Amino acid sequence: MSLLDVKERMDALVKELNQHNYNYYVLAQPTISDFEFDQKLKELTELEKQHPEYQSADSPTLKVGGEITKEFKTVQHRWPMLSLGNTYSEQDLRDFDERIRKAIGNDFEYVCELKFDGLSMSLTYKDGLLDRAVTRGDGTKGDDVTTNIKTIKRIPKKLNAGDYPNEFEIRGEVFMHRAAFERLNSERIQKGEVPYANPRNFAAGTVKLQDSSEVARRPLDCFLYFLYTEKPLFKTHWESLEAVKNWGFHVCEHNRLCKNIDEAIDFIHYWGENRFNLSYDIDGIVLKVNSYAQQHELGFTAKSPRWAISYKYKAEEVETTLESVSYQVGRTGAVTPVANLKPVLLAGTTVKRATLHNANEIQRLDLHLGDTVFVEKGGEIIPKIISVNTLKRKPGAEKVIYPDTCPECGSNLVRKEGEAAHYCPNDEGCPTQIVGKIQHFIGRRAMNIEGLGDETVEALYRKGLIEHISDLYILREKTAELKQMERFGEKSINNMLEGIERSKQMPFEKVLFGLGIRYVGETVARKIATHFKNIDSLISASYEELTSVDEIGGRIAESLIEYFAEPRHIEQIEKLKTSGLQFVTEEKEVSLASDKLSGKTFIISGVFEQFSREELAELIQSNGGKILSSISGKLNYLVAGDNMGPSKLEKAKKLNIPIISDADLLKMIE
Ligand code: IVH
Repeated sequence: MSLLDVKERMDALVKELNQHNYNYYVLAQPTISDFEFDQKLKELTELEKQHPEYQSADSPTLKVGGEITKEFKTVQHRWPMLSLGNTYSEQDLRDFDERIRKAIGNDFEYVCELKFDGLSMSLTYKDGLLDRAVTRGDGTKGDDVTTNIKTIKRIPKKLNAGDYPNEFEIRGEVFMHRAAFERLNSERIQKGEVPYANPRNFAAGTVKLQDSSEVARRPLDCFLYFLYTEKPLFKTHWESLEAVKNWGFHVCEHNRLCKNIDEAIDFIHYWGENRFNLSYDIDGIVLKVNSYAQQHELGFTAKSPRWAISYKYKAEEVETTLESVSYQVGRTGAVTPVANLKPVLLAGTTVKRATLHNANEIQRLDLHLGDTVFVEKGGEIIPKIISVNTLKRKPGAEKVIYPDTCPECGSNLVRKEGEAAHYCPNDEGCPTQIVGKIQHFIGRRAMNIEGLGDETVEALYRKGLIEHISDLYILREKTAELKQMERFGEKSINNMLEGIERSKQMPFEKVLFGLGIRYVGETVARKIATHFKNIDSLISASYEELTSVDEIGGRIAESLIEYFAEPRHIEQIEKLKTSGLQFVTEEKEVSLASDKLSGKTFIISGVFEQFSREELAELIQSNGGKILSSISGKLNYLVAGDNMGPSKLEKAKKLNIPIISDADLLKMIE
């Protein structure tokens, strides 16, 4: 590689890994397996070692990973929450053991623990009572999620009598058992909600909910694995785990004290084979040097302790046969290929299907029918085809070719520039899309119409009773036809009609989301409903007006303009209006605290110790100020917290925009 290529590769890796970190920690929706992530991180680390001059300031090798979300109060960790060095190889473990030997001699033990696949949590206890629970966040600051964590039965709110200090911190992993995950996820699917990919994401999503009564309904569990006290209480980690068990904490019963690395490796082998018999997911084993004095001697690197390491199991991979490929049409017309496989046991469940994402993926794999494929389950519930064993391909095997036409309605498929997915453009005539759109509209997150489910929508469509959303609101006039439908008694009909009637009260933002405009999710719908206040101003908004709204980018703006340019969409909206649906945002009474910031514009960026960004925005608005979406000459102040993006800072400096702190802001409105 030329030096220029090296630099380019390093920059690309930084960008990609930061995005994956964001997907993992903030969105709780990872898109690559841990193994792939670690391989890329390793490549970057190697390159940085050889070319330290090219190391970028926002390299993920310099960060612990993770970011802080804005909804919760940010709390500084008393002791940073570090991550562990990872490895997938036994040789690395032996090298790790050798390094320890060199540093402290041969006389030490390891505590081997399961590496639970959940999210780490720091709990502070004061006078025997749970005082605070904080997520890892970026390792130095996390979110205060105490109210939610208090709903977890296994986490003691009050400790048993014991010899614990007045104040201490204990860390562990919050997770969801697989059985609970499967039950709750199938409930979500039935309700038309988006299912979670795996128990880890479900647990992470749950801890970040705003409504703690909902958290209480989702059973979470927690294993504790590290005690922090101001003064040393115990000599070894093992002793401390034994003690905290008596105080009332849930400590994993499979922990083992090992005399040497061979015993630790035996433990790893044992759980490599038996991990799927556990009721929860683990993704590896953690080795910790037992003695605190020796831990102290070994110390830390910038990111992780030198006295601990995690061995990660590779995502299980199996070989099976590709029997056929089917193509599913979604409500937006996106056509997704799915591989139908010869059923095979993988990571504790029988796998029959794997996602193929899009046409590019089929091409990348060069799939042929009857191919022997390697399937991996990288912590995701839907498995993925990793590669094809071409040596086993039978001569004359038929190549899998992504279709040109829609499998449901036969229309020619289209692909927008820069997009991976193909779409069926026949949104008015393609039955799957029509039904999918109505199902989306009635779903819990949109209009939440009680008494009407996905199957009924399909049946109503097949009977010719509904074709558009607006037809739902004239069903009342068709009771004779409704009564003729199978398994649809008078009571069900009335329930449905009442549900439909009640939905007329749903707020504008829900109606807007329910319309199913591409890229207009719940949050975007809420933002535009708040900004434009009614459908007419939204329909007539220009590209510039749309993109001036916070979080509305070009792609969303274009999609909105395209949608409202269709006369049939406008016709639908008119019909819905006539039926009495809400197309105006109800004005909330906004009482201004003062007008001290009137006429002034602000952008808030970074993380603040005392406030969330949302709170600061509210403060500004309630004192008459305005929040802008991007830095331009129109901006008066940039309110900057920690960790803000360097490019923003640079741009503000270039434009000579005053950069102020949250304290400065408070002074302005004092
Ligand atoms: S010890 C410095 N023990 O793995 C000590 N961590 O990469 C760090 N984890 O953030 C933590 N099981 O979320 C430890 N038995 C265990 C663990 C464990 C899972 C997670 C934890 C941590 C990550 C480290």
